This record gives sequence, structure tokens and C-alpha cells, in this order.
Amino acid sequence: MKRSKKSLTVLLVLILIICMLSACGQTPASSAGGGYTIDNIRDQVVGLDEKMELENGKKIAVTNFDNAATTPALQPVVDEIDEQLKKYGSIGRGFSPKSDYSTDLYNNTRDKVLEFVGADPEKYTVFYINNTTDGLNKLASALIEKKSDLVLTTRIEHHSNDLPWRENGTVIYAEVDDQGRVMYDEIENQLKNNKVKYVSVTAASNVTGYVTDVHRVAKLAHKYGAKIIVDGAQIVAHRKFSMMGESEDENIDFFVFSAHKMYSPFGGGAVVGLTDELMSHMPKFYGGGTIHIVGDDWVEYAEAPKSYEAGSPNYPGVVGLGKAIDILEEIGFDNIEAHEKALNQKLVDGLLKIDNSIVYGDTEDLSDRVGVITFNFSDINSQLVAEELSHTYGIATRRGAFCANPYVWRLYGLPDEAVRNFAECSDMNTPGMIRVSFGIYNTEEEVDYLLEVLPKAIEQAKKTNEENFGLAEPLY
Ligand SMILES: Cc1ncc(COP(=O)(O)O)c(C=O)c1O
Repeated sequence: MKRSKKSLTVLLVLILIICMLSACGQTPASSAGGGYTIDNIRDQVVGLDEKMELENGKKIAVTNFDNAATTPALQPVVDEIDEQLKKYGSIGRGFSPKSDYSTDLYNNTRDKVLEFVGADPEKYTVFYINNTTDGLNKLASALIEKKSDLVLTTRIEHHSNDLPWRENGTVIYAEVDDQGRVMYDEIENQLKNNKVKYVSVTAASNVTGYVTDVHRVAKLAHKYGAKIIVDGAQIVAHRKFSMMGESEDENIDFFVFSAHKMYSPFGGGAVVGLTDELMSHMPKFYGGGTIHIVGDDWVEYAEAPKSYEAGSPNYPGVVGLGKAIDILEEIGFDNIEAHEKALNQKLVDGLLKIDNSIVYGDTEDLSDRVGVITFNFSDINSQLVAEELSHTYGIATRRGAFCANPYVWRLYGLPDEAVRNFAECSDMNTPGMIRVSFGIYNTEEEVDYLLEVLPKAIEQAKKTNEENFGLAEPLY
């Protein structure tokens, strides 16, 4: 009797220990918990081994260096979307347990986004968007009240952070320096000499990868009474980003980013903005979901963020965004940054050894660049090289002016009048560059492969030029 009581106690203690251990290992709803690291994340990338047919009929897995355009999805993100679709019901409109569940998840993800960018929920709110372009257009249509409202942006920007401001307001620009970096003095000069309402800058360039010191810009903007909007498309998956600066005047007022550039499929993205500012404006997108009540000829609109989300929401996009945030945070932005820097260095070193190469931006100091390297060869058309890399070697790059035309012309040294001559030209006959952009899963071996085949691709491109185009002075 005595012995069995003792063994019962031992058993109970054991059960208790097992329970405690399994509780420790349990994944809290808000974290990835998959043990993801920069070294093992490659195993989680959807489609990396998928064989695609090349022009020569060979089937190989694509080496993807086009992550600045869009990133492949991560399997745990896809799994999470699959899982949550089982409980999917209409968001914010239905009366059902599924509708309640998905509405909660949809709204709770706003808190996750706020936390991700360090924004105070008392002051900031989140509205969901289709992508960064959509977010910047919505902001421009809401914040700009009249055509004469002045917006200051820079010459480093993607068209999506330029054209919406041009179309809604009046834009002035701060120039870039000889290396293509944003000039902060120029920003201050423009602010000093003009009554600027909004400053809108990118956090990282999709052409050179330069990271902008947006908190420094915020301080300048606020000093001269302007608000600041940050295009976060190229920063969210690459560096830890906080909307909060070291002091209040360095805080960012609006931050915009896309989920499809952070390993989540189905598009989506978010604008994080000052609640009061968003409440006192309305974007020019109207319809279902944005109202309190509508009469025959009157409308009572809802408050932000609802007023910014016209139409049925993109639930899979929001679920994917939440999971992608968990995974990137688990991997750690310090690790992502170190990884990208190593790849950047290897690629730049290798490119500079190839005859007639031109690498854009500062190649001596790569420390303020995310994983984006853009280059050319002065003796061959870049489109022919990019095509050769794709068709013969299955290497995905991007060639062109990357939706940042004014910046690319500056890096080229082409004046605006000269660019006009290309307005009627085919893509191949319009100047362009080749861009390699890295994701968390790219490897040094992949960079070696690119560097190994590049000279062969250049030779083949030269032959193609001679046989088919005969461009005497190929535009690179
Ligand atoms: C710096 C920058 N801003 C904005 C965008 C637009 O993003 P999206 O295509 O997701 O709207 C991009 C896309 O490449 C970008 O690189």
C-alpha cells in the first residue's frame, strides 16, 4: 500500500513535468514557433525545386534573383491561410460563428501590424490595401485637398511614390547625389523655401537598395510643419523598421507596405497612419463597408480604418500578412541584414572583376544598402544579357528602369531631354539595367552560379546581337 502511494506520487509528478514541458513548447497564437532561421528557411520556400522548361527544352529549377519585384510564398504562410479558410466567413458583415471568428482574426491582425512597426495603438491605426501602390494612391487621394497642396518627394522614388502625388497635388523634388543617395540638405532647402504639406520618401530604393534615414527626414519635415509618409515596400522584409524615432519629432506619420514582398501570397498590405489624420480625411474610394448609413441623397461615412476599406476584404491576404510577420520576426532582422550584406558583397566583388561591368551606386561602402544590386556591361545590351540568363540558365533577374525612371536616368547620367528621344522606342532600345535582388533564402552558391555563367551569357548575347540586331553601339 505504501509503495503504490509513492509510485502514484511519482506518476503525478511525471505527468506534471510532461504537461509543463509541452506547455513551454506550445506555440502562442501570435508567433511562428517553427524554429525558422536564416539557415533553414530555404526548405520552406514554395516552388524552389519546381522545374521550368527553358528555351532549349531543358528543365531546371529557377534561380530567383527578382525578390524586389515579388517574393515566393513560404509554406507555413500558405498552410496558415489554408487552415484559416476552414473558418472563413464574411468579414464584418455576417451573423455566424465563422463570420465572428474571421472578423476577429482580421481585426486582431491590425494590432500585430502596429506592433511590428512599433506604432502606438493609442495614436495610430491600420487599414489594409492591395499593395503599396494602392496604399499610396489612397493616401494621396485622401490627404491632398487641392491641386496646389505641396508634396516634397525625392528623385530616388518608385513611380508609385511619385505619380499619385503628381496627379493629386503639386510635387517638388529633392535631388540625389552623384552616387545616387538621397540628399538631406536638399530636403531641408526645399522645406525651408516652400510651404510643404507632406514629405513622402522611400525607406529603401528598389534600384540601388539604399536605405533612407527616414527619421532624419521626419525631423526635418516636422520642423517645417509638414507630415511624413514612408514608402516601406523595400524595407519590410529586409530591415527592422520602427515608426518611432529617438524623439517624438522623428516619428513617422504614415507607413505603407506590401505583403507580397514579404513572402505572403494573395497580395495585401497595410497603411499604418495617425488615427486623427486618417479620421479627418476620406480617400476617393466609395462603396460597401465604408458607411454608417445612407439616405436618398445623403451619406454618413464610417470612421477610419473602415472608411479606407471599400469593398469586401482580402481575408487570405491579411492572414498571410500576419503569419509572414511572425516568421520574419522569428528569423530576426539582424540575421536577415547580415545575410544580405554577405550576398551583396560577394556579388559586387564578382561583378567588378568582369570586363566592362558597371555597378550602380556606391560599391566601396555597401553598408546602407538592402539586397539590391544593379549593373550593366558597357559593350552589350542589357536586355539581351537578361534574356540569355533566363532562357539558357534559368536565372531570374529584372531588366529595365524598374518603375523608377527619373532615378535610373540620373544613375545613367541621361538628361531629361535625351530621355524623350526614347519615348517611341521598344524596350530593348530604351536604356535599362539588370537588377539582382535577394531574398532571405538565396545562397552564396547561387551567386557563384550567376557569376560563373555571366561571361558565357554575355558572349552569347553578343552573338545574338550580331546575328539578329546588328546594333553597332548597343545601348546597355
Ligand atoms: C520602393 C517601391 N515602392 C513601391 C512599390 C510598389 O509596390 P507594389 O507593386 O506592391 O504596389 C515598389 C515595387 O516594386 C517599390 O519597390
